[in-house]
Amino acid sequence: MADDKITMEVARYRPDKDTKPGWQEYDVPLRTEWTVLDGLNHVKDEIDTTLAFRWSCRMGICGSCGMNVNGEPRLTCGTFLSDYAPGPVRVEPLANFPVVRDLVVDIDDFMEKLPRVKPWIIRDEEQSVDDGEYLQTPEELDAYKQFSMCINCMLCYSACPVYGLDPTFVGPAAIALAERYDLDSRDQGARERLDVLIEHEGVYGCTFVGECTRVCPKHVDPAGAIQRYKLKTAQESVKAFLLPRALRR
Ligand code: SF4
Ligand code: FES
Repeated sequence: MADDKITMEVARYRPDKDTKPGWQEYDVPLRTEWTVLDGLNHVKDEIDTTLAFRWSCRMGICGSCGMNVNGEPRLTCGTFLSDYAPGPVRVEPLANFPVVRDLVVDIDDFMEKLPRVKPWIIRDEEQSVDDGEYLQTPEELDAYKQFSMCINCMLCYSACPVYGLDPTFVGPAAIALAERYDLDSRDQGARERLDVLIEHEGVYGCTFVGECTRVCPKHVDPAGAIQRYKLKTAQESVKAFLLPRALRR
């Protein structure tokens, strides 16, 4: 292989036609500024128009370009081909999701689970518009900002061995998003979310492998959110044991 090229081994699979996934090799230019996504776009534009993959922003914001690169869940728009030189570099669909075609996975399961944790601001009583907006101090914003950086890229689900074994597990990003709203000074819905996550498929499904936090490209720390929820549910169990219902809040 010439120094100015790198081989991409790309997973190919059309579930409606193929009996099992296969591999196809493509040689693409090895340029310092080219990402894995640039390599795939070169294949699509210049070599093989049938290759299917998702992307949109090319700047780590939309979350749609997640794939396994040499076995690691990565945003392909932020992963450089030169880091894998001299190659080959293997590109596969994210693990733990059904494949729609080639590198495109079906994330319907996540879309169905996400609303379960009520990821929106819940108020006991809405204040009227005439009273103005709900104000926050910079410190109050800082309290939840880290958990609000999620781009729904699904890398954490792909890395999570618990989700791989038990698809009923609500999963890392959904739990991190629940924590984002619990920590928001404008929100009063923590109790409702806790009632959802106290179930088996909530936080107790997690055995604290910590891979979700390691692979997260936005430093959201879903593993940290899960541990905080475990603490809350433990406190709730103690309260339920010691206090009459009316005094538990
Ligand atoms: S928590 Fe991180 S890895 Fe998981 S979906 Fe959000 S941004 Fe992606
Ligand atoms: S293309 Fe949007 S995050 Fe990679």
